[in-house]
Amino acid sequence: MDKMQDTIDILKQYNQDHVIKLLKKLDENKREELIKQIENIDLHQIAELYENTKKEIEFKESKIEPIKYLDKETLTEKQRKRYDELGEKIIRNGKYAVVTMAGGQGTRLGHTGPKGTFKLDVYGKGKYLFEILIENLKEANQKYETTIPWYIMTSKENNEETVKFLKKHKYFGYDKNYITIFTQSELPLIDINGKLLIGKNFKIKEASDGNGGTYSSLRASGALADMKERGIQWVFIGAIDNALLKMADVTLLGMAKEKKVQIASKSVVKANPHEKVGVFCKMNGHPKVIEYAELPEKMAEEVDKKGQLKYGESHIMCNLYTIEAIEKISQEPLMYHCAFKKNSYIDEDGKEIIPEEPNSYKFESFIFDAFEFFDDIAILRGKREDDFAPIKNKEGVDSPKTAKELYEKFWNRQK
Ligand code: UTP
Repeated sequence: MDKMQDTIDILKQYNQDHVIKLLKKLDENKREELIKQIENIDLHQIAELYENTKKEIEFKESKIEPIKYLDKETLTEKQRKRYDELGEKIIRNGKYAVVTMAGGQGTRLGHTGPKGTFKLDVYGKGKYLFEILIENLKEANQKYETTIPWYIMTSKENNEETVKFLKKHKYFGYDKNYITIFTQSELPLIDINGKLLIGKNFKIKEASDGNGGTYSSLRASGALADMKERGIQWVFIGAIDNALLKMADVTLLGMAKEKKVQIASKSVVKANPHEKVGVFCKMNGHPKVIEYAELPEKMAEEVDKKGQLKYGESHIMCNLYTIEAIEKISQEPLMYHCAFKKNSYIDEDGKEIIPEEPNSYKFESFIFDAFEFFDDIAILRGKREDDFAPIKNKEGVDSPKTAKELYEKFWNRQK
C-alpha cells in the first residue's frame, strides 16, 4: 500500500492525475506492473524535457563555420587506390563490423511492423529493407573473403517482430553466428500538455529514445564487448531505411585510416536549401550536425563565392568510428531533441485514440551529437544517386516510390 501511495504522491507532484485515476481502476496485477514501470521512469527528467519543448534552440553564442570535406569524385586515381587498399585490408583482416539502427518507429512511413520488414517494390518481386542490406553485406563478404559481424539495434517495441522476421527468412542467407541483435533504451511519450500517454496494455507508453541511444546500448547490451573480443577496430553505423546504403565502403574506411581520425562520415550535397536533412558544420571548432528543423533559414540558404551552399553537406547516417571512439562516446550522455509525432493512446474512458495528426512529443538523442566530442571528422562526399535512397514518407519526397526509382537506376547502371 505504501508503494501505491508513494506512486500517487509522485504522480501528483508531476501533474499526472490521469495516471492516478487509471491506477485506481486497475486490478492488482496490472496495478503492480504499472507501479513498477513508474518507479523506473524519471518523472523529473520528463518534466524538464517537456519544458524544453517550449524553448527555441539558439546558436547565437556559437561560432559556426562550414566544414571541410573530400569529394569522392575528385580524388586522384592514386589517392582513391590508396584509400581503397587501406580499407580493403581492414575488412579482409576481420577488423570491421557494421551496426544497423533499426529501433525507429517509422511513423511517417506508416508501415505496420519494423521498418526493415517493409518490402520495397523493386524489380517486380520486391525486396525487404533487411534483405537489401544483407545483400550488400554478402557482396562485401564475397569480395573481401570474410564474414563481417553485423549488429542490429531494435527497440523494445519492435524487437520480437524483428527477430521473428529474420528467423522466418533464415537471415536471408547470412551466417547467424555473425549476427547480434540488441535492444535500445526507451523514454515515455507525452502529449502537448506534458501528460504521459497510456498504451493499450494500460502501461505508460514508451518509445525508443533516438538513434543517439546506439552508443550506450552497444555498451549496455554487451555488443561492444563482443566487438572487442572479435578484434574489431572499425565500426560502421548506418540506418535501416536507405536502399542505397553501402555497408562496406572501402574508400571511406581507407580515408579515415589515412587521415588518422576517430570518426568519418559519408555525405551527399543537399538537394535544395530546404531539404529535410541535417547538415555538417563546425561549431566552436568541433564537428557538428545541425538538424533541418533547427537550422536558421538564413544559414540554410547561404552560398559561397562559387554559388554553392555553405552548409550543404548532408548527414545521411553513414558514420564510421574507431572502436576507441565508440568506447568513449558510449559513456557520455547526449542531449535530447524533441520530435512531434503521431502516437495512439488510451483516453480516460479506456478508448483507443488513433490520431490523424501528430499529437505527442518523443524525445530522442541523435547519433551525430557525439561528433562534437572530437576535434575532427573526415567527410567523404559521395553521390546522391549512388549512396542515398531514403524511405521516410508514405508518399512524395523520400518515399518508397522515389527509393525504388533510385535503387533500380543504380543497379541498372551496374549491369
Ligand atoms: P528516423 O529518425 O528517420 O526515424 O530514423 P524513424 O523512426 O525511422 O521514422 P519516423 O521519424 O518515426 O517517421 C533514422 C534511423 O535511425 C533509427 C531508425 O530505425 C532509422 O534507421 N532509429 C531512430 C533508431 O534506431 N532508434 C530510434 O530511437 C530512432
